Amino acid sequence: MTANKKVHIKTFGCQMNVYDSERIAETLAPHGYGETERGEDADLIVLNTCHIREKAAEKVYSDLGRIRSIKAARREAGLETIVAVAGCVAQAEGAEITRRESSVDLVVGPQSYHHIGDLIARTRRTGERLVETEFPSATKFAALPGRPSTKAAAAAFLTVQEGCDKFCSFCVVPYTRGAEYSRPVADIEAEARRLAGNGVRELTLLGQNVNAYHGAGPDGRDWSLARLISCLSKIDGLQRLRYTTSHPRDMSADLIAAHRDEPKLMPFLHLPVQSGADRVLAAMNRKHTCEEYMALVARIREARPDIALSTDIIVGFPGETEEEFGRTLAVLERVRFAQAYSFKYSPRPGTPAADKPQIPEAIKEERLRCVQAVVARHQAAFNESCVGRRMQVLFEKPGRRAGQLIGRSPYLQSVHAQATESSIGSVLNVEILACGPNSLAGTLTVAA
Ligand code: SAH
Ligand code: SF4
Ligand code: F3S
Repeated sequence: MTANKKVHIKTFGCQMNVYDSERIAETLAPHGYGETERGEDADLIVLNTCHIREKAAEKVYSDLGRIRSIKAARREAGLETIVAVAGCVAQAEGAEITRRESSVDLVVGPQSYHHIGDLIARTRRTGERLVETEFPSATKFAALPGRPSTKAAAAAFLTVQEGCDKFCSFCVVPYTRGAEYSRPVADIEAEARRLAGNGVRELTLLGQNVNAYHGAGPDGRDWSLARLISCLSKIDGLQRLRYTTSHPRDMSADLIAAHRDEPKLMPFLHLPVQSGADRVLAAMNRKHTCEEYMALVARIREARPDIALSTDIIVGFPGETEEEFGRTLAVLERVRFAQAYSFKYSPRPGTPAADKPQIPEAIKEERLRCVQAVVARHQAAFNESCVGRRMQVLFEKPGRRAGQLIGRSPYLQSVHAQATESSIGSVLNVEILACGPNSLAGTLTVAA
């Protein structure tokens, strides 16, 4: 069917939402929707939202305010606009969104995207405002359409696992994404082959707890993530595999060994530690101690000595003392992460930690600044250690300067180099000549 209507999709939050937004676009294509970058031109606006911190959720409401004026202006011009809120805010707040925002026609949770097209057709036809936040993940994945055969980017995401049973005391994900569910191996393999056939060279396997993956294999047994990686690494054309996000508790021996044995598995691992203080970790319900985390890091580095590690840190968790915060700084100094994301604790409605006495905002701000300074120092040192080295870079897109491309190193750094556009989608040898705080610059070489 030719696209005669336009959809504008705006994505907030994690890579899982990026993946879901692509699938939403693919699901809407047979209903006659082509994508547009501009909300003003759209017959349908989808906000794919994130509920992880208060700021993320509030952004959605400020966007909806702007969309209300777009909708009114279009109506003046005789054009209809359907507004849909998808993602984790949709799941968490449901009908509250339609009550708070008159412009919203449809609220659709992350488990219901497979019939978003029908829901939109229904609200368009009847004028009903719909709220759909049911159904388990298994139904969704089975009912989503196959991925179309169109040229894709060099790197792509593939969701293999969704949901979480860990219930960290600060986190909304178990409530917004539901119980842990792993897709069957055969489905993932078929999708990966299709993506590789479309030109994808690097796949990042996604899951809220991706290393807890335990999907049904073709042999009728549950396969681990390591086994899935080994299977996907046999697909021709796929040159690189990554996975995120992992929980320290599920970092199994076979997955650690895969970092030693599987050349396509990139030497980068995002492994959130959250805090360096055992009392805080226990209050967070993380179920690991700081020393257990350090022992894990040692085992991973033994298997793959050059691995670059990344992490998430929360500062100002309820009750966090100066001494406990000092332990977080200490764990950063011990591991020396190649990169890290750090956040001020944000109380989330319905989560256990939200009811505890809170740390003042000014203290959270100060702690966040400290963490970010330490992380920036380590990141810069890691980038500097790469200067003079040769590494393989997957080129993904044109850079800002003429004749320049941007790619990724094995360690997930952005790398700039002079190269022709025909190199997009190729893994090439690059000698690193310089670095900035967040990227590397290099020149193509003949051999690594
Ligand atoms: N599944 C992943 C993380 C998902 S959320 C894991 O278990 O590690 C991504 C990050 O957001 C978390 O690692 C945490 O650092 C941060 N985060 C989650 N809830 C938060 C909250 N209420 N306040 C501040 N940061 C939060
Ligand atoms: Fe949230 Fe914890 Fe689950 Fe990660 S493991 S998604 S932080 S509850
Ligand atoms: Fe946000 Fe939901 Fe992802 S809360 S971080 S979009 S799983």
